[in-house]
Amino acid sequence: MSLLIRGGTVINADARERADVYMEDGVIKAVGLDLDVPSDAEVIEAGGQYVMPGGIDPHTHMQLPFMGTVASEDFYTGTAAGLAGGTTMIIDFVIPDPQQPLMEAYQTWRGWAEKSCADYSFHVAVTWWDDSVGRDMGTLVTEEGVNSFKHFMAYKGAIMADDEILYNSFTRALELGAMPTVHAENGEMVFQLQQKLLASGMSGPEAHPLSRPPAAEGEAANRAIRLAEVIGVPLYLVHVSTKDALDEIIRARGNGQRVFGEALAGHLLIDDSVYRHPDFETAAAHVMSPPFRSKEHQAALWKGLQSGSLQTTATDHCCFCADQKAAGKDDFTLIPNGTGGVEDRLFILWTYGVGAGKLTMEEFVAVTSTNTAKIFNIYPRKGAVRVGADADIVVWDPAARKTISAKTHKQNVDFNIFEGREVTGLASHTISGGILRYKDGEVMAEKGTGRYVKRPAFQPMFKALEKIAAANAPTAVKR
Ligand code: URP
Ligand code: ZN
Ligand code: ZN
Repeated sequence: MSLLIRGGTVINADARERADVYMEDGVIKAVGLDLDVPSDAEVIEAGGQYVMPGGIDPHTHMQLPFMGTVASEDFYTGTAAGLAGGTTMIIDFVIPDPQQPLMEAYQTWRGWAEKSCADYSFHVAVTWWDDSVGRDMGTLVTEEGVNSFKHFMAYKGAIMADDEILYNSFTRALELGAMPTVHAENGEMVFQLQQKLLASGMSGPEAHPLSRPPAAEGEAANRAIRLAEVIGVPLYLVHVSTKDALDEIIRARGNGQRVFGEALAGHLLIDDSVYRHPDFETAAAHVMSPPFRSKEHQAALWKGLQSGSLQTTATDHCCFCADQKAAGKDDFTLIPNGTGGVEDRLFILWTYGVGAGKLTMEEFVAVTSTNTAKIFNIYPRKGAVRVGADADIVVWDPAARKTISAKTHKQNVDFNIFEGREVTGLASHTISGGILRYKDGEVMAEKGTGRYVKRPAFQPMFKALEKIAAANAPTAVKR
């Protein structure tokens, strides 16, 4: 199977060049001009378009069982929607129930994901602790190619990780050369505020952001970062939504700590006024955690991306339809938390980032693909248009326009948080594994054509950090 993309401009995170791209059997074989390629190669004409590494969304939840229901988007529909938006890989989450063996949950998610039509990988959540969890983390790293473990500091009474779990898991992650990641919100604070708001008679979606103030995120971000500092392990913060959390990241990075932050397309654009919409369905459709914030936070997140303090973008794609959101009609704490966007992320980042002069095209590639590949140790197999890399490519038409709508999107959900927004710059073709899987509005990908991507541990970097941690460890005082 061979394919040539002809006449386009290749944009990588570090450079742009006028070049054709030739791929065979799922791998990029040549990048340059006047390539000598077989006469029977399939050809995509890309004149006037950009040829970029396919997007990698490091934060999705396909068919997640959550808050008494199951997310409406499954691994097939979700990866197909991603392809329509130029995303060729997702990193989803295995979330074991407390007391459930990690390996058992991991096998369940692997089974669900077999229907994917784009590549996928998994972070595994640590929701409880005993020695078996530490052992399973070892098996996941050494045999299954999992190099990141997620900790929910919120969702008390369900999947919340307390400080003891965080300490044990971060310590084990360091031993294994794996990256801890956190959903940073103080779960106890959120729980207490939820009870207070309900008792005061506030039961609608407008109470959702009030129960999760920016300080709840800032406190948890600081706690996780400080734990990581003492243990000597790197840390990745998912869905950074506030200036408060961003400031903690900036402080830690300034101090030499390896701390990484992710911004969601939704948090970059949408503000908290959505929760005061008079119509319950619309307000509830925006309920996700952390919530959409006031405008000053969006400005801070854009600056974080521009300055490199935040390195990645994601969607936290976790879809629930109106009948599912209705579970919280009389009690906002029961509205399933989650919103979509896997199809829209690149349109949003291009239009409001590149189009608005906030990001260069190279920076766009960095924050939508390359930085995720680097942080999660799959670069340059992923995240680059270069010889030897997987042939996961988006051909991007900077002049194409559309209005985003739930009526026309491919995502399996009845609402779109970007409804009505005009975007300029769309995927015209998406190639995954060297095969054209999306072209001008049509997804041509079959179930099961996506592959599981193993991500190796980070031994060399972590060994160096272990040495630093050991040098800083207190020594016993002899009396
Ligand atoms: O509201 C959200 N974000 N739902 C999915 C679970 C999570 O917290 O990431
Ligand atoms: Zn989260
Ligand atoms: Zn999430």
